[in-house]
Amino acid sequence: MSHPAAAQVPEGVPRDAAAWWRSAAIYQVYPRSFADGNGDGVGDLVGIRSHLGYLRDLGVDAIWFSPWYPSPMADAGYDVADYRDIDPAFGTLAEAEALIADAHTRGIRIIVDIVPNHCSDAHPWFREALAAGRGSAVRELFWFRDGRGEHGELPPNNWTSIFGGPAWTRVPDGQWYLHLFAPEQPDFNWANPKVREEFEDILRFWFQRGVDGVRIDSAALCEKDPALHDFDQAMPPYPHPYSDRDSTHEIYRSWRRIADSFAPPRALIGEIWLQDTERFIKYLRPDEMHTAFNFDFLAAPWDAAAFHSTIDATLAAHAPVSAPATWVLSNHDVFRHVTRYGREDTSFTHDHDHRRRQTGAPTDVALGSRRARAATLLSLGLPGSAYIYQGEELGLGEVEDIPDEQRQDPLFARTSGANPGRDGCRVPLPWSGKESPFGFSPDGAVAGPWLPQPASWRYLTVEAQQGDPASMLEFYRAALRIRRIHPALGDGSMIWLEAPADVLAFRRDPGFTCVINMSTLPAPLPVHGEILIASGPLADGMLPPDTAVWLATT
Ligand code: GLC
Repeated sequence: MSHPAAAQVPEGVPRDAAAWWRSAAIYQVYPRSFADGNGDGVGDLVGIRSHLGYLRDLGVDAIWFSPWYPSPMADAGYDVADYRDIDPAFGTLAEAEALIADAHTRGIRIIVDIVPNHCSDAHPWFREALAAGRGSAVRELFWFRDGRGEHGELPPNNWTSIFGGPAWTRVPDGQWYLHLFAPEQPDFNWANPKVREEFEDILRFWFQRGVDGVRIDSAALCEKDPALHDFDQAMPPYPHPYSDRDSTHEIYRSWRRIADSFAPPRALIGEIWLQDTERFIKYLRPDEMHTAFNFDFLAAPWDAAAFHSTIDATLAAHAPVSAPATWVLSNHDVFRHVTRYGREDTSFTHDHDHRRRQTGAPTDVALGSRRARAATLLSLGLPGSAYIYQGEELGLGEVEDIPDEQRQDPLFARTSGANPGRDGCRVPLPWSGKESPFGFSPDGAVAGPWLPQPASWRYLTVEAQQGDPASMLEFYRAALRIRRIHPALGDGSMIWLEAPADVLAFRRDPGFTCVINMSTLPAPLPVHGEILIASGPLADGMLPPDTAVWLATT
């Protein structure tokens, strides 16, 4: 049995620096949970800055920061009270500027999260709207309506919140306001030009601070049908009253003009959950966003036919608009894929029942980790850009035994616990040491991490994995190192090769082949030169099940 380490790879050709987003490996930092510099149990910018060397050594091209703005944290920062500052728990604007500059010095680009669909109920506009009362101009920045029923005691329509419960909350003067997420997240009215101007200005604010791109939260939800009609959630009408309305595209066309007015141009990356690929791809037309997350790939079960067809559909959809595909396995909203792939049901959906059923389902962690490694070579080997969610490079699994009273995700409370929520993928990272906080907080910190860390993470700290060639961390480092310099990787094209049943193999030029074995039998490798990297040991030259390999080929 051999376990080939990363081998020599051909000299790379410099990638098109201006179009970095076409090829980048982008690391998602969830600021609350990355590293705590001041010992209060919550991650912060000082902590992130002190670990930039780690990210450089990991070999990522860019960092995307989940929201770091002032926020009451009703939805972990996706409830923004001020889009032009930093939450005091995380640091200061000056520290953010210094962090951006430090990252740039290390050759790492920065993406910030912009949340345009809604703000926080602590946002000054919303406060003013509450104070100004019904009929005021400032209420027009949101969706305030009178209720139904004799005394307006019923919500204006039957829409439900994505987090559970009604999408409307009543204010003391009797009016109601719309919130597609938590009540603390009032939706903006994008038909109001002031909202548009405000966000255009926010974009400029961050671009002027050197930010290289923005990730656009809930990007397809901004526009609403002002009629606010009832609809059947199980069978929504078309066009949908609040998702993917045609007028949404105008928002991002104007954002693109702003992004293009900077030198170098900045990138727009959309969070767009749409089943309809034709509709999804419209957001990636040349005058709109640059890329968008590929959630089809993330949601696909561990099955060769499913992977094959989602890869084909993705590439076919992107080709006509010349946008690069993206490959995502995990983020702060979904079950960590080590856990997902170790279960009988390996798929993902946002359905509350599905999440409840999945939580605590029997998990074969060794199998999940093996598949996670194989999936990493696949996602880093496919054409386009790839995302890495913090902690996946350590092989962290979903934490499922968080006591109810420590759960923070509004999904948990709003569904009365029916949906356990997303805290399990947001647990603070383990850096070093044998017990919690595992170096997440400095020595002597008084507060424990804001979510409890499992004792078993002592084996998964950066310190424990560093230098161990069999570790997940060294595997990611090796794969990213190859990806950075191999001329076939990143943006470009691929062709499928013939392969045994449930084995996927594709070639990319020059000289690169990726094979992933999703069958239950060892598979022969195609004719090749060197093995660049394998996700696990080969057996007598055969590729075992749940294993992938990158090969030098002619
Ligand atoms: C996005 C974010 C998620 C957040 C929601 C509301 O889906 O990824 O974390 O809860 O938007 O802002």
